[in-house]
Amino acid sequence: MTQAFAIADNVYQVGVVDWNLRDFHGYSTFQGSTYNAFLILDEKVTLIDTVKKQFADQLLDNIAQIIDPKKIDYVVSNHTEMDHSGSLPRVMHYIGEDKPVYCSRMGEKNLSMHFPGKLNTRVVKDQEQLQLGQKTLTFLETRMVHWPDSMFTYCNEDKILFASDGFGQHFAGPGRFDDEANQAEVMFQAKKYYANILLLYSPLIAKLLKKVSDLGLPLDMICPDHGVIWRKDPGKILKAYSEWSSGTTERKAVVIYDTMWNSTKLMAEAIVDGLEAEGITAKPMHIRSSDRSKIMTDVLDAKAVVVGSPTLNNQIFPTVADILTYMKGLKPMHKIGAAFGSYGWSGESVKLISEELEAMNFDMLDQNLRIQFVPDTEKLKSCFEYGRTIGQKVNAALDTGDA
Ligand code: FEO
Repeated sequence: MTQAFAIADNVYQVGVVDWNLRDFHGYSTFQGSTYNAFLILDEKVTLIDTVKKQFADQLLDNIAQIIDPKKIDYVVSNHTEMDHSGSLPRVMHYIGEDKPVYCSRMGEKNLSMHFPGKLNTRVVKDQEQLQLGQKTLTFLETRMVHWPDSMFTYCNEDKILFASDGFGQHFAGPGRFDDEANQAEVMFQAKKYYANILLLYSPLIAKLLKKVSDLGLPLDMICPDHGVIWRKDPGKILKAYSEWSSGTTERKAVVIYDTMWNSTKLMAEAIVDGLEAEGITAKPMHIRSSDRSKIMTDVLDAKAVVVGSPTLNNQIFPTVADILTYMKGLKPMHKIGAAFGSYGWSGESVKLISEELEAMNFDMLDQNLRIQFVPDTEKLKSCFEYGRTIGQKVNAALDTGDA
C-alpha cells in the first residue's frame, strides 16, 4: 500500500501490501498478503498494530501522509507475532520509546522475549477501556486465537472491531474492502486462513463468537490485520466462522495421495469415481501437485478424508507423512477416514495411515484397501466399490444429522 486511506471518520488504514509473498512460514500465499495497521486521530493519536520489520519505513511513510508519526501518543499491540510486531522497535524509536504500548498480560511477556528492554508496555485487562478523547477503545482478550497474547480492540463510537488475525485472509488485492474485491476469492482465502491457522482453536473460537454476541457489540466494520476490511457485510464472515468453528461438513470427500509408479494414483481416481457415484463431491489431490495448505482448505468442510500412499522402505511415503503430521496438529473435526495404497512386498503404509487417522479421532471405515503392484481392471473395480462404500457412510452420517 503506498497510500493510507480513511476507513471511518478519523480512522485510517496505514498498513502495507506484500504483493510478492508466496510462502508464509510454509503456508502458500499465491495472492500475496497485507499487514494492516490502523491510525486513529483523536486527542490521543493511536496506532493499532504494526507490520513486518522490512516494511517499517513504508508504515512510517503511510502514517506521515496523515500526521507526523511523532505525534502518535499510544500504540496498541493486539498480537506479538512478528508480521504485526516486527516494526515496533523501529516505530517506537522514531516516535519516542517512552510512549506506551498497550497489550495483554501475555502480550507483555511475549513482547519482552522478542524485543527485550525496548518497549514501554502497559498491560490491559479483558474489557478494559482506554479513552482517546472522543473515541473509546475496549480491549477484548482472545487468548489462543491464535497465540496466548492475542486480543481484539473495539472502537465503541465507530463500532469497529480491530480483530488482529481473526477474520483475516492472505489476499493482497485488488480491493481493500469486502465490497471491492472478488467475493469468491476473498471467501476462499478466508477459509484457507481458518483451515491453516485457526482450525485447532475452533472450540475457543466458538466461545469467542458467543462472547462477542453476548456483549452485544454492534459491528459496523471488522478490520483484520490481513486482507480486506469487512464493511459491507461483516455478518458474512461471522457466519462463516460460526460454521467452520462448529466443524460443519458437506457431502464432500478429499482423496489425498502420493504415488511412485501411478498405481496409488489409479486407485485414488477409481475411489473418486465411486464416491461420485454415491453423489459425493470428490476430487483426488496429488500431494506434490498441490500443497499442504491448499489440501487443508479442502479438508476443512469435507466429511470424508481418504488418504493413500505407496509403501517406501516399510514406511508411509514421506509427503504423505508430512500432510498427516500437519493435519493432526490442526485437529479437524467430525471426519470419516479411510486409507488405501499400492505396495510391492511389505505394504505397511496403509496400516500406518489408518493408525494416524484413528489418532485424529476419525470415524474409520471397517476395512482399508491395499493392492499389490499395479491394479488391473478387476482391482480398479474394487477401488470404485471402496469409494462407493465410503460415500454411503458419508450419506448415512449426514442423513442422520451428524456434522
Ligand atoms: Fe498475522 Fe499470527 O500473525
